[in-house]
Amino acid sequence: MTEPPLNSDRIPRHIAIIMDGNGRWAQARGISRNEGHKKGLEALRSVIRSANDLGVRWLTLYAFSLENWNRPKLEVASLMGLLERYLEIEIDEVMEKGIRLRSIGRPDRLPKRLQKKVDQAIERTQNNPNMTLVFALSYGGRSEIVDAARKLLRDAELGKIDPESLDEKTFAAYLYDPEVPDPDLLIRTGAELRVSNFLLWQIAYTEIYSTDVMWPDFGERELIDAVRDYQSRERRFGLTSEQVRGARDDSR
Ligand code: FPP
Repeated sequence: MTEPPLNSDRIPRHIAIIMDGNGRWAQARGISRNEGHKKGLEALRSVIRSANDLGVRWLTLYAFSLENWNRPKLEVASLMGLLERYLEIEIDEVMEKGIRLRSIGRPDRLPKRLQKKVDQAIERTQNNPNMTLVFALSYGGRSEIVDAARKLLRDAELGKIDPESLDEKTFAAYLYDPEVPDPDLLIRTGAELRVSNFLLWQIAYTEIYSTDVMWPDFGERELIDAVRDYQSRERRFGLTSEQVRGARDDSR
């Protein structure tokens, strides 16, 4: 049976992805976890291309969590190496496709050389007009909220902000990159049903899609399946179905 085509008017503006399952993918094939991560890097390249082609405006990838620092040293080094390789090899294609790079997280623990490469890539691509690709690197959702609160308290001490006037919008302006809109769709591969400390503030009303596909096997077709599933949902943001339909009719 052929699947219905995607509705080009309802492509999620921002997709966030928890890329899970490299290790299990490798284990099932009797190869090393690092080989799984290498295959994962290929999947990452293909999904970036496909998302940009679909017209997604923002793509946030959970590349390395704060908790990932506790993995074996060799695995951490291999992941850092892969990211560096991505930045070296792909930067020309990223430029050619007009993709803009950003990163969120606590960069101070990243190797200096990698930090420099990330900064250079962000600077080089800053005026690109197409999709913005956000790497969550050395990232934790709770830490992001704590870091925002710290900056906010400092500003309150300096008298720049009145605690009584604090609201959600003001708070969100203190997150790592306030320009990034909340994700419309969060995809998690690797058959897990957790958010794993990812974008905790931003996913309040995000649609969540989980798939059994392990990240190295996730490609354009799987991305389209996730978007199709998203398009079948009704986003109510706490309203009733009737209210949402009424608002849609009013805007016609
Ligand atoms: C999860 O697999 C994946 C990661 C730890 C990060 C994502 C890494 C890549 C896509 C490879 C490219 C690297 C970078 C940093 C861009 P897992 O090891 O947790 O899988 P498992 O749950 O099956 O063990």
